[in-house]
Amino acid sequence: MYSEKVMEHFANPRNVGELETANAVGEVGNAKCGDIMKIYMKIENDIITDVSFKTFGCGAAVATSSMATELVKGKTLKEALNITNKAVTEALDGLPNEKIHCSVLAEQAIRAAITDYYKQQGNDPLPLVGCDLDCEGCGGH
Ligand code: FES
Repeated sequence: MYSEKVMEHFANPRNVGELETANAVGEVGNAKCGDIMKIYMKIENDIITDVSFKTFGCGAAVATSSMATELVKGKTLKEALNITNKAVTEALDGLPNEKIHCSVLAEQAIRAAITDYYKQQGNDPLPLVGCDLDCEGCGGH
């Protein structure tokens, strides 16, 4: 049912825990299942120099969180904002259809953390939208 990569990231998730040096935090919840994902970022000169996560959720949510942190590390904010749930899913060699909604959490958590950062800088926060799935897994954001 799950790819080897998903299983590997679930068994050995990268960048787990709270990041003490974080200057941006994003927390999102999945309205369908109640799972919660929190992403911590250390952002310097518009680059995500460090990142970690805490996820209370299913295996697919843990694996997508782990992969999402790997994908955004070292990226500019603009590049990170272009990372979609599809990109995270593809990097994991796919997810079963009924688990695609779990990957939306990772995309939203990235956006929430960057929005938090922009708010702190006094810039207009970005909207928490971006996915074009029709699964209602996230409550139809
Ligand atoms: Fe809730 Fe996967 S079932 S995020």
